[in-house]
Amino acid sequence: MAAPGLINEVPSDLLTQHRILEGLDEHPANQTAFDFDVAIVGLGYVGLPTALAFQAAGSRVLGVDVSERRLAVINDERADLLETDRDRLTLALRDSSFDLTSDVARLGTAAAVIICVPTPVDHFLVPDLRILESACRTVVASAVPGQVLLLTSTTYVGCTQDMLVGPLAARGLHAGADIFVAFSPERIDPGNDRHAHEDVPRVLGGSTSVCAERAAAVLSSYAKNVHIVPTVDAAEMTKLLENTFRAVNIALANEFAEICQVMGVEVMDVIGAAATKPYGFMPFYPGPGVGGHCIPCDPHYLLWQLKRERLSTPVIEQAMAGIAGRPHRVVGRIRETLSERGAGLTGARVLVVGVAYKPDVEDIRESPALEVLSELIKQGATVGYYDPLFSTATLPDGTTLIGVDEPTAFGADLVLVHTAHHSVDLAWLQDQPVVLDATYRLSDLTNRVVL
Ligand SMILES: NC(=O)c1ccc[n+]([C@@H]2O[C@H](COP(=O)([O-])OP(=O)(O)OC[C@H]3O[C@@H](n4cnc5c(N)ncnc54)[C@H](O)[C@@H]3O)[C@@H](O)[C@H]2O)c1
Repeated sequence: MAAPGLINEVPSDLLTQHRILEGLDEHPANQTAFDFDVAIVGLGYVGLPTALAFQAAGSRVLGVDVSERRLAVINDERADLLETDRDRLTLALRDSSFDLTSDVARLGTAAAVIICVPTPVDHFLVPDLRILESACRTVVASAVPGQVLLLTSTTYVGCTQDMLVGPLAARGLHAGADIFVAFSPERIDPGNDRHAHEDVPRVLGGSTSVCAERAAAVLSSYAKNVHIVPTVDAAEMTKLLENTFRAVNIALANEFAEICQVMGVEVMDVIGAAATKPYGFMPFYPGPGVGGHCIPCDPHYLLWQLKRERLSTPVIEQAMAGIAGRPHRVVGRIRETLSERGAGLTGARVLVVGVAYKPDVEDIRESPALEVLSELIKQGATVGYYDPLFSTATLPDGTTLIGVDEPTAFGADLVLVHTAHHSVDLAWLQDQPVVLDATYRLSDLTNRVVL
């Protein structure tokens, strides 16, 4: 394995315990020679950049994905990545220490296995754990003594115990003795190049202190800072707090946008001004709703689990309900705006600009734009969308729309700006009859309304 970097913030009792257990390496279970330092299971928005960070740090990496289509996208260098990661991928694909496979039977050839598969919610907002259960079953079945197994998918508290530690023990592999199990939430922010992957601290909790220490050594191959928490449950809960915090603050920003609209104040001026305070305030911004694989899903893992505890969490519940209601609010504002101009929604031509859930990513999962387009169609509008990052968009009911190439030719009665990618020219908006600016960032437009 590549030389571990500095592990900051490792509690001293763990280091003491390590010295007590230093004979562990002589345990016959730990004598296996591995072909790879790390295997990454699931090469999506999280797994692929993680694999590339390890590879760039000198680790031998086995990337495992069950989707041949995804492997082809990666091999063809068509994956949606930050520029630094695109460069890393080009180099990695030429390097014999970087191997991609759909053959899960090869997992036993890696010293560490990191699980990064999706953890969505279903239509009833209940965690859909089938993909994670299946991946964990595979990892447990192929586990070999001495391996470090690290779960990084966002999940409920207790999941690492339920899906890895327990089933491994049933196979005779006991965490902390035969095998090392930990949870470390991912913090990757696709499309955001302001924080290098290796600079973002990793939080980590081990099933035992030895597990934590072994797993920290693995992550330290590329991460400059690993923050160990005393239990695996605390690491699982940390991720739920991080994304629930974002959800609650986005809901508050949306509410402030409506307050400012009523009071005739530009909300972005207010948020920008408040953000000059160097402590006690962190800016969050209003918008048409939330999408992607984190904020619309993660807090529901917590809410779902808390139902069993009969614990009431009104702040979180209200925030999630408020966020979920935003696309409906967008459609209501479109109807209102058209009616102020003497037109109805039925038969109106509405063009949606930007269908990605946020700027500069090719990720449309859970995008509020899809719900807005569906509802507009149901209410009789003629819709189109303009987003050069997506040639087609599939709505929740299965309808597939083809994007317009030339937005001015659409002849819109109203344009909704849902997402503004930095690479897309929006100068033509000025000549449109009216623009509903759900990004709140187009204050120079004279034909603009906000939510
Ligand atoms: N996307 C984000 O911004 C983000 C940020 C932080 C954390 N997370 C969390 O990370 C996890 C992964 O999310 P993602 O966005 O990378 O998902 P993704 O959908 O982009 O990628 C997941 C990949 O896993 C593969 N896969 C599914 N089952 C598999 C299996 N059994 N074995 C091997 N490969 C398998 C899929 O084919 C896919 O390529 C989720 O729990 C998510 O909540 C996501």
